[in-house]
Amino acid sequence: MKERLISLMAEAKNEIEETISLEILENLRIKYLGRKEGIFTQLLKQMANLPFQERPETGKLINEIKNKVTQLLEEKGTTLKSKGKAQKLSQEKIDITLPGILPELGKLHPITKTLKEIIDIFIRLGFQVAEGPEIESSYYNFDALNIPSHHPARDMHDTFYVSQDIILRTHTSPVQIRVMEKQLPPLRIIVPGRVYRRDADISHSPMFHQVEGLFVDEQATFSDLKGVLSTFVHLIFGSETEVRFRPSFFPFTEPSAEVDIACVICAGTGCGVCKYTGWLEILGAGMVDPEVFKIVNYDSTKYTGFAFGLGVERIAMLKYGINNIRLFFENDMRFLEQF
Ligand code: PHE
Repeated sequence: MKERLISLMAEAKNEIEETISLEILENLRIKYLGRKEGIFTQLLKQMANLPFQERPETGKLINEIKNKVTQLLEEKGTTLKSKGKAQKLSQEKIDITLPGILPELGKLHPITKTLKEIIDIFIRLGFQVAEGPEIESSYYNFDALNIPSHHPARDMHDTFYVSQDIILRTHTSPVQIRVMEKQLPPLRIIVPGRVYRRDADISHSPMFHQVEGLFVDEQATFSDLKGVLSTFVHLIFGSETEVRFRPSFFPFTEPSAEVDIACVICAGTGCGVCKYTGWLEILGAGMVDPEVFKIVNYDSTKYTGFAFGLGVERIAMLKYGINNIRLFFENDMRFLEQF
């Protein structure tokens, strides 16, 4: 019995040492210490067959070995557990030298960008920003700007009607009237905003943006108009850009002009974009018509002024070389991400 116990001890020690997983270790625990079928339980049962005098010593030995095996099982359990933890940690290790995953950033819409740029330039030139309603009365949109009903100029505007007298503004010029009704000269304002016309092709959209300008003072001249608008063109398109003032007509300015720049595509040699003229029209302007001053009760013997209106989409298209205005409004990420 004694010899069997000693070899059992050696066997158990060996088995426990060689164990590589907690599962196998648990099986060993059941094998040796299991309450019903465990080796030690069986050994203790067999004690009944021993001669009476041998029992105390053998019992003591069995218990010693049992305690020893229990201790070995516990120790092995602890080492296996901490080994497993270390292994798990090394597998889950974060490689901090890997490049990070950048979150996607939003960008300004090209129209917003262009609008901001235009506004910044005029603010540097001493203008202040004013705004007015997009749903407008035909009085402000037309009559007060010297465009009476049945005037042929109304046809050019392709108006959206809300009711007989209420429309979607076709230009930002009505805000000229609204500002002059409330303030006396000197005035230097710009009016950025949305305008609406029943018109749609690759260069026209039913909704687009304009920036209106109005400058009124005691001695404002056409030279001031040319100076301000040339400076604007040079700041937005580059100082080398050629500018041309061409006579035109607007009911609310006299004299009136349209401003052209040398074609940004062909630099003036002629191409499809400038229709082989070498020039691109970018804005309308003129000296405020005394008829308009009369309507807002400005003394036209004392004050003169100039006004201008430019299309933001048109400027953005020329600046970025975009050939279809719809691209601005389709929200295609492949287009928008380029700005
Ligand atoms: N309101 C005009 C248009 O939309 C542009 C303009 C504004 C012309 C101011 C002269 C002065 O066509």
